[in-house]
Amino acid sequence: MTVSEVRKRYLDFFANRGHAIIPSAPIVPENDPTTLFTSSGMQPLVPYLLGQEHPEGTRIADSQMSFRAEDIEEVGDNRHTTFFEMLGNWSLGDYFKQEQLPWLFEFLTSTEDGLGLDSEKLYVTVFAGDPESGMAKDDESVGIWQKLFAEKGIDAKLVELGTEEHGGEVGMQGGRIFSYGARKNWWSRAGVPAKMPAGEIGGPDSEVFYDFGGEHDPAFGAHCHPNCDCGRFIEVGNSVFMQFIKQEDGSFKELPKKNVDFGGGLERLAAATRGNPDVFLIDVFDEARGVLESRSGKEYRSQTSITRSFRIILDHMRAASFMLASGIRPGNSEQGYVLRRLIRRSIREADKLGITDAVLADVAKGFGDAYAEAYPFVLAAASTIREELEKEEAQFRKTLLNGVRELERMGNDIDAFTLFTTYGFPIELTEEIAKERGVSLNMDTIRTKMKEHQEQSRAGAAQKFAGGLADHAEQTIRYHTAHHLLLKALQKVLGPDVHQRGSNITSERLRIDFSWGAKMTDEQKAEAEKIVNDAIAAELPVTRSVMSRDEAEKLGAEHEFGAKYPEQVSVYSVGPKDATDEDPKFAEAYSIEFCGGPHVGNTRELGEGGPMQPDGSRARTHFKIQKEEASSAGVRRIKAVIR
Ligand code: ALA
Repeated sequence: MTVSEVRKRYLDFFANRGHAIIPSAPIVPENDPTTLFTSSGMQPLVPYLLGQEHPEGTRIADSQMSFRAEDIEEVGDNRHTTFFEMLGNWSLGDYFKQEQLPWLFEFLTSTEDGLGLDSEKLYVTVFAGDPESGMAKDDESVGIWQKLFAEKGIDAKLVELGTEEHGGEVGMQGGRIFSYGARKNWWSRAGVPAKMPAGEIGGPDSEVFYDFGGEHDPAFGAHCHPNCDCGRFIEVGNSVFMQFIKQEDGSFKELPKKNVDFGGGLERLAAATRGNPDVFLIDVFDEARGVLESRSGKEYRSQTSITRSFRIILDHMRAASFMLASGIRPGNSEQGYVLRRLIRRSIREADKLGITDAVLADVAKGFGDAYAEAYPFVLAAASTIREELEKEEAQFRKTLLNGVRELERMGNDIDAFTLFTTYGFPIELTEEIAKERGVSLNMDTIRTKMKEHQEQSRAGAAQKFAGGLADHAEQTIRYHTAHHLLLKALQKVLGPDVHQRGSNITSERLRIDFSWGAKMTDEQKAEAEKIVNDAIAAELPVTRSVMSRDEAEKLGAEHEFGAKYPEQVSVYSVGPKDATDEDPKFAEAYSIEFCGGPHVGNTRELGEGGPMQPDGSRARTHFKIQKEEASSAGVRRIKAVIR
């Protein structure tokens, strides 16, 4: 099957079982400063898994664009990609294991409205329990799976690999269902129970693997088992029973509602329908792969190292196309840096394939075409994607030349680390050139230095994730509400034609891009600040309602620029204050916006939690615009803080 067919079958299957189909959220999370990219289908749904009511109901399904930067180095084998689509279905306090596992099995095996996979090729894993956090083993899922396999005439034996993870030592033992510990069968964004920050949600999960056959490679352990990395078994889906929330004291509490969070790898499922484990052979890569073959004069399958270079370029250019089309530009920090890395790695691999002229834009074109129907915004950005890739490729090819020149200057005293950190010159390239010249490099020292360097950047990234999750509930939420207050204030000061063009919120500040053609005067900025501070002081209630899109539009709710909305939408209103209040200023709602939240319950909370005041209170009503500058033609950008 093609990727489009698998996607369509999945969404139809769950729509027929009462699920509302929602569009993919953007690849850069909108209301979540804690991660650079959307990396799973559940991420945009966190508020709802935590108990907030979803405007579309309690059964939701989608196909979510996802990107996992931590997998960049893994790309090159037959199944890892950085960008992928995650098929998702959710029960928000609706159905649980007894419905989820049978539906999933039916979807995978039904020839009629599913994928028609052979049930003999499916193997499943379940949670063995976790002594460390006291989480119980998942016997219920074992029972459900046994029944499902029995209906297909398969006697599904349970093999308990437990928490010891000795799968590689004992192997399959004729099993069909395998239990593993928390490292394999517990899911949260932060990993095992012990690693989860307070406020993070997670639960036991049950994974499905497809058996692609083939010889076991003993390099991965004496024996094969579903979680072995030799490539025989590939995980195609994971049903998380999202049931717990971590507490401040390290214990776990049941969520108000039991949820299901299923994530399936669209590309891997398409590969399974073809019976070929190589995800780079599915249809969406065809055109781009053809471009690489003709430009390099080499065949994809001709040699392991060539196949690897092809895969890296194909993966990275697909991800880069979606990123560029989503507005990310190559840069030196955050998303821009990841994009730059993807591009530079691709150029290196193109070099290895003997392609010395610009090629990336041509490869990327293949993806705009492949996703023309499902994600037309990629094709619509074709000329931007081309320009940006051509620019970056030309620049990096120059960097490579400069690096070589610097290398020449260094003579026999080659400093690979400096070449890397200062010139961006890849270590492995320095190594190759040194070898050609018969110069020996002290690779041990270089590796140690590189490791320190990487650990430093990794620590930074991990901190961002952990710290961010922890304060999700506090300062970040205040800034979300402040963002609504500011947009309204700008409309009051500059006029009703001012609209949001972009936004980014961290726990440190808010940033808003808005349509306005001129620099704001000091008076205008002061006025906007005063309006926001007045709204905070007025203690306006913030309320959320769910209504039809038409109704919300009639109320004049502020749209988010370029967003697509479902039939039922969530709307946040700030104010009005109830009728008993004497101040007529807030008798009507201060602002109304289409928004998924989360927000504070009352603007008063924006003023709380500040430094101690002389009167002993911790109130702070000091909203301040830090910076106002041009963002692009006709768009200004403001950074603001609450202090
Ligand atoms: N959220 C789960 C995952 O990403 C389904 O694997």
